Amino acid sequence: MPAAVEIEGLAKKFRIQAGKDKTLKGSFLARRNPVEEYWALRDVSFEIEEGSTFGIIGENGCGKSTLLKCLARILTPDAGRVRVNGSFSAMLELGAGFHADLSGRENVYLNGSILGLSRHDIDHRFDEIVEFSGLSQFIDQPVRNYSSGMYVRLGFAIAMNIGPDVLFVDEVLAVGDENFQRKCFEKFADYRAAGRTVVIVSHGLGSLRTMCDTVAWIEDGKVRRIGNPAGIIDEYTGASQPDMIGTLDAHRWGSGEIQVTRGELVDRDGRTVSECHTGDDVALRIHFRAKEPVEEPSLCLTVQRMDGAIVTGPGSRDVELHTGTVEGEGWFELGLADLALLPGQYEVVSSMRDHHMLHIYDHLHPALRFSVAAGNRGERSGVVSLRPEWSLHRA
Ligand SMILES: Nc1ncnc2c1ncn2[C@@H]1O[C@H](COP(=O)(O)OP(=O)(O)OP(=O)(O)O)[C@@H](O)[C@H]1O
Ligand SMILES: [Mg+2]
Repeated sequence: MPAAVEIEGLAKKFRIQAGKDKTLKGSFLARRNPVEEYWALRDVSFEIEEGSTFGIIGENGCGKSTLLKCLARILTPDAGRVRVNGSFSAMLELGAGFHADLSGRENVYLNGSILGLSRHDIDHRFDEIVEFSGLSQFIDQPVRNYSSGMYVRLGFAIAMNIGPDVLFVDEVLAVGDENFQRKCFEKFADYRAAGRTVVIVSHGLGSLRTMCDTVAWIEDGKVRRIGNPAGIIDEYTGASQPDMIGTLDAHRWGSGEIQVTRGELVDRDGRTVSECHTGDDVALRIHFRAKEPVEEPSLCLTVQRMDGAIVTGPGSRDVELHTGTVEGEGWFELGLADLALLPGQYEVVSSMRDHHMLHIYDHLHPALRFSVAAGNRGERSGVVSLRPEWSLHRA
């Protein structure tokens, strides 16, 4: 099989501003050495077979998104070579490539032309794109009114229906609902059947295991292993799980005008707890500090099990929580009555964004970790309790 993607000796460094140190000595040092270099990728070489579905896994911050951005030519490598044989499209960041003031329809045309299609080509595919997105009712509304899931639907519908030879997909799929995710997985299968290549970064190890032909495990900017999905995913979960809580530092990015200071789990009396039980009435509190007035911030949370299985992704925008202008300290509270989570370790990722969900003020992974112990329901395995009611019937 010929290679769809060839990567040879790829390296990418970022310059990061040295921490602000207000002492005299600190400012001298800062002047001498104003930026530090950080190698996000080092000497990465591998090939992706044409017609395969290729997964990329690894801990937060290991360089997966950076790798995909180099493949999609959004970032320029500092060393090495990347070659994509054929056309490609990419779904890398939520809302990237969308213009908030334009309607869904106009954005389809805008995106299509960015991806190299003529107006005629787009006319031809327009109905199919809108149908796949399931957004026909909203297609003439400005996308600023879209929820994060709607952004993903439209972005995906465009990227997929343009039918590139190679499709690059970053985590964003996780924002879509179950139904839409299934539709995308079916489309990936069609892609594969048509001899097209899909390269997908995900923490959803379960889907990667069934979907991928090959998986690459990235660790600290380098390829640690590459090959058969089942074996590599088992080794990866074995290696990363036991010491995850102790050693994984929080991973944060964003412009910082407003930042999450801590996450907290509270019981029904408002007391901080680190553990609760299935069926308890609890609440998640995400405390923040805004250094300056921030208009209408919104908070997106992802509640996930420690192996990355996403349980739910509530967003304050999805329920139209109006926050007004926020300054100083405060907290968002998410009440969870009769907690449906089954026993296990969970973490909460927080993403503080602007009203349109496009600009990220602060992304923090994790904002909180907590464990759930067995309640009085008797169920143990799985992630959530569906509140089953059992009975036996004799014919
Ligand atoms: N534009 C940037 N400027 C500076 N550092 C960056 C930039 N983009 C990424 N990094 C750093 O490069 C490293 C790799 O980031 P990357 O986003 O590729 O990780 P990832 O594997 O995709 O993580 P995640 O699972 O959290 O999405 C991180 O340490 C990150 O802080
Ligand atoms: Mg990433």
